[in-house]
Amino acid sequence: MRIADRIGNLPPYVFARLGRRIQELASQGKDIIRLDIGSPDLPPPDSVVEAMYRSAQDPSHHGYGGFYGTPELRQAMASYYEHRFGVTLDPNTQVASLIGSKEGIANIALAFVDPGQVVLVPDPGYPTYSLGTLLAGGVPVRMPLLPENGFLPDLDDLAQDEVRAAKILWLNYPNNPTGATATLEFFERVVDLARKHDFLICHDNPYCDLSFDGYVAPSLLQVPGALDVALEFNSLSKTYNMAGWRVGMAVGNSVAVEALARTKTNIDSGIFRPIQDAAVLSLTGDQGWLWERNEIYRERRDLIWGTLHKIGLAAEKPVASLYIWAQIPAGYSSVDFATRLLEEAGVSITPGSAFGQYGEGYVRISLGMATDRVREAMQRLEKFEF
Ligand SMILES: Cc1ncc(COP(=O)(O)O)c(C=O)c1O
Repeated sequence: MRIADRIGNLPPYVFARLGRRIQELASQGKDIIRLDIGSPDLPPPDSVVEAMYRSAQDPSHHGYGGFYGTPELRQAMASYYEHRFGVTLDPNTQVASLIGSKEGIANIALAFVDPGQVVLVPDPGYPTYSLGTLLAGGVPVRMPLLPENGFLPDLDDLAQDEVRAAKILWLNYPNNPTGATATLEFFERVVDLARKHDFLICHDNPYCDLSFDGYVAPSLLQVPGALDVALEFNSLSKTYNMAGWRVGMAVGNSVAVEALARTKTNIDSGIFRPIQDAAVLSLTGDQGWLWERNEIYRERRDLIWGTLHKIGLAAEKPVASLYIWAQIPAGYSSVDFATRLLEEAGVSITPGSAFGQYGEGYVRISLGMATDRVREAMQRLEKFEF
């Protein structure tokens, strides 16, 4: 059987490979604490689960969910952007509902990128930006995110030819994996660049509501004129603890929204209606509980950061996202360090190289695990000899 080169040439999805090894160890009776994956451990509020249940009891809600999402869902997404960011969107032309943002991130490449065309992707970065590009036959060109630049791409340093040739430039702040944040001034500079060179900015913003110490993350769409050149991806996965439900959005430039929606109508058939109805409640209901939830993440962040500090591993204290990005001890590759920690201490963290070559020298530690398990993992880390 011969599979397509398109797939055969892709690197395996790191988390799937790591997951298989963890399962092997677990089946041998090892207690593995998983701080490697960015899935919230907590559930959404009961009212959201009940809304899903109520909707599922309606016999007419079991057919296809509709290509574009219900008008109520798109309106709820637009209302969220209005309340949260002061950004006004037309729910009919500037909002696309997604079956989780990951599919949209991959599908936007099919909508915008022809074979051989350049897409600028952050390195380290969420792998789907470059894998989606490769699936479309495009060429991902890496923008290094370096600590001396606050893990922002150096816009002055982007090779002029590459910027000129780019169809899409990807950004993601609050950032996975580094936990870095960006200011509106930085976003303004990117919007100027996109106008000058006529590329689409795709800003991936799923961590905007996971923040601590009073930090409030912006939307790139708050920049005046951003709607002319940008699409922002967002998700209910992290904000509302709904990662398994698969519901997200792409909002912004209407041409990009339409192109993405047109691509998707040929690939999927929309979100299950009860999930759409529950998503409306999440987006428009009381948002107060998010701050209590973020306090739980903050406690875990402090616990992990405090331990790293104690054992001498350098890391910034992030004010947003679900991750701590820590430097590993000299003499290890990130895969070697993560593997030793997994095999010998039963703590699973993600090697930085999983996010690109500039992730080497780091590991990513997730806050999405019950606090007592995080505490136990940190005790193991303190005893670990490296
Ligand atoms: C930066 C980033 N973007 C997008 C996603 C995908 O989120 P979802 O498909 O659950 O909306 C993730 C998930 O971890 C992520 O870290």
